[in-house]
Amino acid sequence: MTGLPWDASYRDGPAPWDIDGPQPAIVNLASNGVFAGAVLDAGCGTGENALHLASLGLSVLGVDVAETALAIAREKATDRGLEVEFAVADAFQLEGLGRTFDTVLDCGLFHTFDSDERPRYVASLASVTARDGTLYVLCFSDSGPDTGPHPVSREDLRSAFNPSSGWNIAAIESERVHTRFHDNGAPARLATLKRA
Ligand SMILES: C[S@@+](CC[C@H](N)C(=O)[O-])C[C@H]1O[C@@H](n2cnc3c(N)ncnc32)[C@H](O)[C@@H]1O
Repeated sequence: MTGLPWDASYRDGPAPWDIDGPQPAIVNLASNGVFAGAVLDAGCGTGENALHLASLGLSVLGVDVAETALAIAREKATDRGLEVEFAVADAFQLEGLGRTFDTVLDCGLFHTFDSDERPRYVASLASVTARDGTLYVLCFSDSGPDTGPHPVSREDLRSAFNPSSGWNIAAIESERVHTRFHDNGAPARLATLKRA
């Protein structure tokens, strides 16, 4: 993954998933107080979810391969007077960060990877998630009308996240992912994964 195709999607106006605000599902999740400790936002894009979590007083690192997205995210943080760290990092090599996190967020990244890429990504996530830490994955669902691209089934989640890959599934709930192309969001799954 060079990151260049991803970066291009941020250069000429907002990308389809860049909705000028945090995902409502993440706002709702955060309102339940489940984000705690050091937080990593993997594939943070222009940072709206990370910025929302920081506005709640959390310590957040957002990483992405797209430098253009990160520049936009940093500018928003400055404009809003929020302290958030944004860094270039490949989600397949998160161990290179040399840090662990209590809560990890994946909003729209897991579903972009092919099934043969997912084991490496899941292992990378496990390498930076503290024991008993929690990972939240919000992804397009294959269930329902008007699905988004690369929809994910329950079985996809079960085969990626299991005790042998270092994870226990605590919950898989139905949600929506908002995009610029879906009036009321696309069907989504919100998975809660506990580090085994
Ligand atoms: C669908 S976008 C979601 C962005 C953001 N989480 C949001 O909700 O707006 C997926 C993001 O993952 C980033 N990405 C793709 N592959 C990556 C990788 N290997 N490592 C880090 N980030 C990656 C892309 O640049 C893009 O910003």
